[in-house]
Amino acid sequence: MRSEALTASPDGRGDPLSGRRVLVLISGSIAAVKLPQLVSALVQRGAQVRCVLSPSAEQLVSAVALASLSRSPCHVDADQWSHRAARPLHIELAEWAEVVLLAPLSATSLARWVHGMADTLLASTLMACEVPVLAAPAMNSAMWAAPAVRRNWRELQSWERVLPLEPGSGLLACDRVGDGRMASPELLLLALESVVLAGCRRDWQGRRLLVSAGPTREPLDPARCLTNPSTGRMGVLLAQAARLRGATVDLVHGPLAVDPEWLEGLHCYPVGTAAAMEAALERLQGGADAIAMAAAVADHRRRTPVPTKLPKQALADALRSEWEAVPDLLAGLVRRRPPGQVILGFAAQSGEVLEQARAKFARKGCDLLFANPIDRAGAGFAAPDNEGWLLGPGDRERHFGPTGKLALAHQLLSALAEALALRAPLPVPVTADP
Ligand SMILES: Cc1cc2nc3c(=O)[nH]c(=O)nc-3n(C[C@H](O)[C@H](O)[C@H](O)COP(=O)(O)O)c2cc1C
Repeated sequence: MRSEALTASPDGRGDPLSGRRVLVLISGSIAAVKLPQLVSALVQRGAQVRCVLSPSAEQLVSAVALASLSRSPCHVDADQWSHRAARPLHIELAEWAEVVLLAPLSATSLARWVHGMADTLLASTLMACEVPVLAAPAMNSAMWAAPAVRRNWRELQSWERVLPLEPGSGLLACDRVGDGRMASPELLLLALESVVLAGCRRDWQGRRLLVSAGPTREPLDPARCLTNPSTGRMGVLLAQAARLRGATVDLVHGPLAVDPEWLEGLHCYPVGTAAAMEAALERLQGGADAIAMAAAVADHRRRTPVPTKLPKQALADALRSEWEAVPDLLAGLVRRRPPGQVILGFAAQSGEVLEQARAKFARKGCDLLFANPIDRAGAGFAAPDNEGWLLGPGDRERHFGPTGKLALAHQLLSALAEALALRAPLPVPVTADP
């Protein structure tokens, strides 16, 4: 776990977690050992944190460490029966919290919650909570596949105020490789920030979103390339925010400079050149309800590939003469668009943004265009914040930001969902019943 990644918010402009009262409920999975560092990161980001351990979790992680790192007492079952407390502890804690992080969530605690059993401090606190809960299960892959766990997890999908965060796949503590691995602490922090910003809404459930992100890299020769300073942050946050809101997300991306854990739960297609990005987008476009074309695609590329490194003089000649324009990927997507599909384009601009954006929007034919300045301090490429104009149908123009890129991602997703609802109504939701 990289602690610098945990302590930095994707949103630079006022960390959304700062000042929040976060109740961390930890049940009996070995993944509980990851919680002390996560709690420390929350505190460093300005959150107020209180922890509760289930009796099993008490065996796996130190209550003293959690108390020390959270700067607050860590509560265990024995505290529930103190004759010194004026009010029941589980009610005090539930009423104190603004948001709950339930991680790791064990099979037992999941079953208790779903079936209304309030026989531990953790379970009764959880049941008394009326605030959003981010729930992150962790268990052995066979346990995760067990019919009872599947049924309980399915049930949770339809609960309001709960964001169920599907575990990933990987090496488990039981030495198996498979499903059941708790979402990484980096992703838990991002998801918690998302819950604070946008709640537990699942308005993208049943939709498939195709996102492109990052720069492309056009080789000059095997040792040099033409690229740009895009980090892919805006596109990746858009993709992850959509996934948290229930979408299935395909992410076609060039070389990224973002936390790799932010890619968990997305279907990723890494590419290098604009041609490879174009081919991947073309392959995936048919299955998408909506597309967000956030990648910073190169404008030019070498006409013919060179297999060996060019000597300096030949390089200078090549730089002068060997170029051709890269086809407009957004225009291609618009041309091939199936009925009902909604496309959001991005335009990185310097100078006067709105006039250029209007001309581009009229030219491109996409449904929405987000135009953002790249020549203002603290916004655009590589910055944690962004701002810009969203141009939409009926000459609608909205200014967003300056704001953090995750907050902006949610605003853009809402606009995209609105445009999508006008084109194609949502499919009938799947019921929670087995
Ligand atoms: C070392 C160890 C690791 C465990 N890891 C998990 C786990 O990852 N997920 C899980 O659901 N149960 C796990 N268990 C079993 C739970 O701790 C057990 O089912 C317990 O009843 C959970 O109760 P709780 O939800 O109140 O904490 C583990 C048990 C041990 C001894």
